Amino acid sequence: MNNLSTSPHSSFLLRFFGMSVFVGLLFCAKPVYAENEQLKKLMLTNNCLACHQIDKRKYGPQFDEIPAKYINDASAVAKLAAKIKAGGTGVWGEDYMPPQPQVSDANAITMAELIMALKPAK
Ligand code: HEC
Repeated sequence: MNNLSTSPHSSFLLRFFGMSVFVGLLFCAKPVYAENEQLKKLMLTNNCLACHQIDKRKYGPQFDEIPAKYINDASAVAKLAAKIKAGGTGVWGEDYMPPQPQVSDANAITMAELIMALKPAK
């Protein structure tokens, strides 16, 4: 005999409980997770990961520290999108970000929007 037929009741409860936790997690985790996944994918395909991570300082600033710096700047997305393509230095220190001409205008704007939508670093 298998477990199912010896204790159908507890097995049902277990599954029901497991399902609720799963669905619950899905609901709270989804928005942030989905955005980060999109951003991570773009970082990978546009060669940003060499210098940046979302939640850790690498050669360049960690991305979740960026929104706080531009919180009162209505043109932040446009500025960051331009900087992503042109590169530059002096905002986060002495290090220099080289131009990233491989990034399309659309991807630069999308990435700037996703960065500005990140939850602030803890
Ligand atoms: C060779 C290393 C390197 C690469 C590759 C790189 N970055 Fe940077 N990034 C930096 C450095 C260094 C800074 C800090 C520049 C400064 O202080 O002005 C920076 C700053 C930034 C900033 C903040 C700009 C500001 O003025 O506040 C954004 C946004 C950014 N990078 C996005 C990207 C994206 C998106 C990519 C991929 C397309 C990318 N970076 C690729 C090194 C890099």
